[in-house]
Amino acid sequence: MSFPTGFVWGAGTSAYQIEGGIDKHGRGPSVWDAFCRTPGRIKHGDTGDTACDHVGRFRADVALMKEMGLGAYRFSIAWPRVMPDGAGAVSEAGLAFYDRLVDELLGAGITPHVTLFHWDYPLALYRRGGWLNPSSASWFAEYARAVVDRLSDRVCHWITINEPQVFIGHGHFTGEHAPGLHLPMPEIVRIVHNVLRAHGLAARCIRENAQTKPVIGWAPVGIVSSPLRFDPGEIEAARVKTFAIERQDVWNNTWFNDPVLLGTYPQEILSTLGQHLPDGWERDLEIIQQPMDFLGLNLYQGSRVTLGDGAVATPARQEVGRARTAFGWNITPEVLYWGPRFFFDRYKLPIVITENGLANLDWVGLDGRVQDPQRIDYTARHLQHLLRAIRDGVNVGGYFHWSLLDNFEWAEGYDQRFGLVYVDFATQQRIPKESAKWYSEVIRTNGRNLAPLGEAAGSVRTLLGERPEEARP
Ligand code: FCB
Repeated sequence: MSFPTGFVWGAGTSAYQIEGGIDKHGRGPSVWDAFCRTPGRIKHGDTGDTACDHVGRFRADVALMKEMGLGAYRFSIAWPRVMPDGAGAVSEAGLAFYDRLVDELLGAGITPHVTLFHWDYPLALYRRGGWLNPSSASWFAEYARAVVDRLSDRVCHWITINEPQVFIGHGHFTGEHAPGLHLPMPEIVRIVHNVLRAHGLAARCIRENAQTKPVIGWAPVGIVSSPLRFDPGEIEAARVKTFAIERQDVWNNTWFNDPVLLGTYPQEILSTLGQHLPDGWERDLEIIQQPMDFLGLNLYQGSRVTLGDGAVATPARQEVGRARTAFGWNITPEVLYWGPRFFFDRYKLPIVITENGLANLDWVGLDGRVQDPQRIDYTARHLQHLLRAIRDGVNVGGYFHWSLLDNFEWAEGYDQRFGLVYVDFATQQRIPKESAKWYSEVIRTNGRNLAPLGEAAGSVRTLLGERPEEARP
């Protein structure tokens, strides 16, 4: 069992979750800095002020990545570290930091994959209306231009925006993430439109100005319904449900991906919310739909469906005692089969798994090691399904485990540990977990050390909720 030659093996992080150094390089505040200072917003009152002190320790962190054998590292750039006020003046010291990080990675033989926006929106721009301001798309493009001018002689892999569903949904609709707003749907419609325009302008800016040939994608959350049985009718019903918009919220795929990749808004949006789109939205679709080289998918868990009345997918009964992560997220490894397959069929773009991983209850054992067999098992199962998708003809270019380091998990503070590398937040000591060593072997052997799905079917079948049919090789 092995992955295609050239398959990219990586791990990811994001700026606010690991960098710390919030006053270094003339960095301006982001909405997350402000949100963390609002009492009651973040568990234990945690903040990203120090996080993993990555700005102070990035060289050691790159050395760890090298030791692990990572081929690629996905990180994000903090917009307010590059432009303290979000627009206008550029911080030379901020750009110089990312220069050094990129050079360090390249020196270690690791390919940088740069995300331009992973939620740390400049507070100064928020005060000017944030994503509701029609200028927000050009502010983002201006920032993108500064980064591209500086890094694109060495960086060619770009992700414009991470998980628009989450920072719009949690940040602007339900309010548990920064900036903590509860806006009504008409305003959410305008925000989504501005974010889509921001993506388009940034993608165009990269394409037109990059000094080395760019590879451009974005990284929405993949919200996947998987068929419980490997049955054509059930598969089709699951696909339809995966791309349907059933509720008036942002937790769907097509509101975001159809404009970006197909150049159209889904009919469900136009007929229910279309009246809230700003004038000229049809013309904007030309900006929004830029040529893209890959579709990033952040996939952690999926829902399982079965055939209901009228050949429509209905949620499968949840198993009692189902497998869950420390966060309480369901473990549904087949999401790495159906997700790539459904999205590749619909959008015809190479898929990259830009995030996948789990929060686990990790601690340092008496022997000094961090044993995390659950992370190894979770990842092995997901990779088996991913390989099966590749075997079935889905073009998948790479896999980025979330995350390289334990880090600041947004509203959860430091409670949820997602890292391959353990971080002692009191001392900043790093300890590669057993999963990091295992992942090194996956990378070294290009997946040959993973048991083939068919042969491992016994163990796959024992995971509650997985049906034998799903284990079909
Ligand atoms: C995703 C985010 C990432 C991290 C993981 C666990 O939604 O993109 O920053 O929080 O979840």
